[in-house]
Amino acid sequence: MTSQVRGPQLARLLGQWHALPGRRRNPDYAALAAAVRGLLADSRLPLGVRLPAERELADALRISRTTVSAAYRELRESGHLASRRGAGSWTMLPGTHRVASTGLWTPQDDRDMIDLGVAALAAPTELLPAARAAAEDLPRYLGGAGYHPTGIIELREAVADGYTRRGLPTSPEQIMVTSGTQHALDLVLRLALAPGGGVLVESPTYPNALAALAARRARIATHGLALDGAGWDADLLLGSLRQGRPKLAYLIPDFQNPTGHLMPAELRERVVGAAHAAGTDLVVDESFVDLPLDGTALPPPVATFDRHSRVISIGGMSKAYWGGLRIGWVRASAPQVQRLAAARVGVDMASPVLDQLVAVHLLAEAPAIVTARRAQLAARRDALADALAQRLPEWRFTLPRGGVTLWAELDGPISSALARAAEEVGVRLAPGPRFGLDGTLERFLRLPFTLPVADLIEAVARLAAVRYDLNRAGRAQWREPAVIA
Ligand SMILES: Cc1ncc(COP(=O)(O)O)c(C=O)c1O
Repeated sequence: MTSQVRGPQLARLLGQWHALPGRRRNPDYAALAAAVRGLLADSRLPLGVRLPAERELADALRISRTTVSAAYRELRESGHLASRRGAGSWTMLPGTHRVASTGLWTPQDDRDMIDLGVAALAAPTELLPAARAAAEDLPRYLGGAGYHPTGIIELREAVADGYTRRGLPTSPEQIMVTSGTQHALDLVLRLALAPGGGVLVESPTYPNALAALAARRARIATHGLALDGAGWDADLLLGSLRQGRPKLAYLIPDFQNPTGHLMPAELRERVVGAAHAAGTDLVVDESFVDLPLDGTALPPPVATFDRHSRVISIGGMSKAYWGGLRIGWVRASAPQVQRLAAARVGVDMASPVLDQLVAVHLLAEAPAIVTARRAQLAARRDALADALAQRLPEWRFTLPRGGVTLWAELDGPISSALARAAEEVGVRLAPGPRFGLDGTLERFLRLPFTLPVADLIEAVARLAAVRYDLNRAGRAQWREPAVIA
């Protein structure tokens, strides 16, 4: 059965289609067609629905029927619309795309797609031997039920030792193993934030943290990071804590995602002091702490300055080891860990024992693994920076001293338009607005340097080609975004 979208509904979904960044260079019909394609790509307009008749949509959008006709014709030509005389027009995707069972669409032949949407490395060679060794260890656990809400003791010890080595004495009772850092964040939010609670985040920040906060119906306030320099403006950040008195602040002080900034020691200390005075709990995401590059020295962990159990640290194996392992953790006070474990049994009970054993074996080889990762990332970062300097010299960025992402300021508010155009040439991007609220950050793009050098160079070449096409349409017509964070 085919459902139908009415003219006013589609008009609402299309929103400001005629004024989207990079759109004004196009004739109206092309902008309308592109906006419909965008809705399809975002799953906001389902596949297989009947679009309004041309006259109905023209009335709803207050444009001419000729424009709608031309847009529908373009959509038919690009394979996004099927029409039958007398029966109407249905949404579809071009033959080269299939609909994945999740409702997301993915290109059928992904081999040539360079995915810069994901900032994570492939598994290290040590992973397979670690998995084999973990299987050998498993019999030690098979006599029990296998539920360990705070994690198996071996892994909690290994994680606690890691903190202690970083200068933050930690006992295994202060560690709860989770199924990834994202899971750690979700559990902490369940415990520490009532619906509607105020939360301060950096802008830009990690999109899935925003998603987790949205799921808790948090009231989100942002602290805008500068592109260069230290990133955080101490006065503004401390002022936001003092005046806003949020229930919680979520910060990524170690090679922030996406900017790569590293928060200096002095500011860490002042933030903890201001948070305590404001009654704010600090959730510190240490996802990238293992990945300083160029021998960059790490400041002490934020929790080092904590005297009042205000700081909850979260981290995991995804960035220095492998995302597919799904192992993360929370470091908090022992009573907080007990409360988190109690909350967790209503969510997922515990993390898989086998995966935790793999993590134990990988952490035992941490020095060798992270040394190799850092060298690999530094080479890839440099190759990416060189390619950008050569092919897209108008883009500005500060070379990150760690982490896995470079945050580029583009030469116009084109990030979403560029991401859509890039998809057509086999490069997947996470455009700037994904890292903020309310569609801002159109002048920015996050570029991870986690893929092999050849892929990064090819991706930049393709982006430069697409960028050139955008350019030909006339720069003068671009709008400046209302807010630049
Ligand atoms: C800042 C930050 N937090 C959390 C995560 C999610 O990590 P995990 O795979 O451990 O859930 C990521 C992954 O990109 C991240 O960048």
